[in-house]
Amino acid sequence: MKLLVTGGAGFIGANFVYYELENHPDDEILCVDKLTYAGNMETLAGAMRNSKFRFVRADIADRKAMDAIFAEQGPDIVVNFAAESHVDRSIETPEIFLRTNILGTNVLMDACRKYGIRRYHQVSTDEVYGDLPLDRPDLFFKEATPIKASSPYSASKASADLLVMAYYRTYHLPVTISRCSNNYGPYHFPEKLIPLMIINALSDKKLPVYGDGLNVRDWLYVRDHCTAIDLIIRKGREGETYNIGGHNERANIAVVKTVLRELGKPETLIEHVTDRKGHDRRYAIDPTKIHAELGWLPTTSFEEGIKKTVAWYLEHRAWWEHIVSGAYASYYEKMYGNRTVLDP
Ligand code: NAD
Ligand code: TYD
Repeated sequence: MKLLVTGGAGFIGANFVYYELENHPDDEILCVDKLTYAGNMETLAGAMRNSKFRFVRADIADRKAMDAIFAEQGPDIVVNFAAESHVDRSIETPEIFLRTNILGTNVLMDACRKYGIRRYHQVSTDEVYGDLPLDRPDLFFKEATPIKASSPYSASKASADLLVMAYYRTYHLPVTISRCSNNYGPYHFPEKLIPLMIINALSDKKLPVYGDGLNVRDWLYVRDHCTAIDLIIRKGREGETYNIGGHNERANIAVVKTVLRELGKPETLIEHVTDRKGHDRRYAIDPTKIHAELGWLPTTSFEEGIKKTVAWYLEHRAWWEHIVSGAYASYYEKMYGNRTVLDP
């Protein structure tokens, strides 16, 4: 079996590449990645030593490049992780999100139609469902929950999902979609909540919590996400969407305090700052369908996963120091320099 994995130099894509190489050693993996700010060849250094793995630098929205890759490689399964993935960046510059996340998906699926594949899998997000109120803990996102995106990021992912289902209905492209909650774990880019807080705390920098810090996310250890995608691409039903999450809901402020506790750092580092525009209140997944159909359940609790993640960042200082010493420094200044510190 030949897998084409797009966005494999990013956080979840790279974890998936390692998961597949370990668990399906006979399969070949071709990784296609544009290497934007979020793509990192240091992350793939281990995979590059494996003879079953190949890497091509290309943009998924580049039709000529995708045509050439599909014509030459003839992949059996395409797993599309490639995306602009950060909500805060989408609020600053929506356009690139539309290009990569929507047009890129369109170009990839056209190549799939032209050259024929066994499965196209779209890695989507629970953010396409919008958010849930904090005072209704009985509500969860189900696959049938209507799409109601809040940010330019989630709107672009929702658009891509609609296009994927349109290709299934119109062209009978064998597709699946997964919608996952917030991931965390090794190789997570420092702009996202958990790695940002770990890295700031390690440098005794302030920890910028948006607004009241009561927004809730449903945290999933990245390896559990990889096991779910692996099951869906091999055993999931064509034309189906699967929600992936494991009832690990935590308020942001609780996550930040857990990180501080793990690192033995004081809570006085916490600073409440101006809220994100349009900030979604609560995400919470109902994973009944994937559990019932494919037997999937997450195996890592939040307490265990956060310990593993903090340990990983302590053991891989060089990996994140290379990032934070580069263009990331000016990103941080731009995004956090002007945020007002709120009264405690
Ligand atoms: P990431 O930002 O860490 O990585 C994205 C990767 O895509 C990078 O390697 C980047 O270079 C590459 N890329 C960007 N534009 C490209 C283009 N035009 N052509 C080719 N490659 C391109 O993202 P991530 O957190 O690993 O997320 C992967 C996927 O999972 C995304 O589709 C995201 O929407 C989805 N998702 C993420 C989360 C999460 O918590 N991180 C949760 C649910 C869903
Ligand atoms: P993030 O990791 O950006 O993921 P998403 O927006 O896709 O859920 O943010 C997770 C939560 O943490 C979200 O509610 C915003 C909040 N947050 C902060 O409070 N401070 C920060 O510096 C960041 C990056 C996020």
